Amino acid sequence: MVEILRTVAALKARVQEWKAAGASIGVVPTMGALHDGHLSLARAARAGVDRVVVTIFVNPKQFNNPDDLKKYPRTLEADAALLGTVGVDAIFAPDPAEVYPPGFATTISVSGVSEPLEGAHRPGHFDGVATVVTKLFGMTRADRAWFGQKDWQQLQVVLRLVADLNLKVEVVGAETVRDADGLALSSRNARLSEEARGIAPSLYWALQSAAGDIRDGEPLDEVLEEAREAVLGAGFDKIEYLELRTAAMLDPMTRFDAPARLLAAAWLDGVRLIDNIPV
Ligand code: PAF
Repeated sequence: MVEILRTVAALKARVQEWKAAGASIGVVPTMGALHDGHLSLARAARAGVDRVVVTIFVNPKQFNNPDDLKKYPRTLEADAALLGTVGVDAIFAPDPAEVYPPGFATTISVSGVSEPLEGAHRPGHFDGVATVVTKLFGMTRADRAWFGQKDWQQLQVVLRLVADLNLKVEVVGAETVRDADGLALSSRNARLSEEARGIAPSLYWALQSAAGDIRDGEPLDEVLEEAREAVLGAGFDKIEYLELRTAAMLDPMTRFDAPARLLAAAWLDGVRLIDNIPV
């Protein structure tokens, strides 16, 4: 059984012991409802540092939609069993009041890279992410932290804040884990109906096809429009964005002339799915 720590004081005490013994510490921040994508991060951490903490905290500050926060799956027992198979050292699963006690008044806000795409469609989301991630780094005193590339923009925001605040944690971005049909693993996939689950991988395949066309030098506007049509034609209800951006700063691109990322967010069956791939 993996030890579950519910308070900041308990986590700090455990971390203090590990540090005193000279151990390196890794953290895998999650919101729970763990799937193979999370487990691959935990396995990478297990192989990379002496002590691994997986944090499980559905962070209210990063939800701009109260309904989404309410519906977010909370499956601590099942998550702990899965993490037991990886052999992590501790789970930190605090209540919101433990992370944000009365009087809490600080927000970490990363400008620039956090503003387009997810930032534009989910106001306040990255302030919530940056604030909680900074706190988790502080509480765990982690030497290394693992994040998934599925949340590509989040990864860039975290890299920016670590550089800007001179945090000593090394951030590792791990490849997106996909089902055999291409769908990126996400805790939200469980909310798709059987029919929608069949449609969902078309987002990834539209991105793949567009990436190929962009590399072949086809006109960017046309390629992106075709990809949007393919996603809607496959049965998605709405696209929030499907764009080519510079890989690190996420600046808009009118031509493919620098390392780039294709990123998309779209709605299917009442579920918001995101995905991205390198070009
Ligand atoms: O990617 C997530 O699950 C969350 O945004 C994170 C990094 C755990 C912060 O709450």
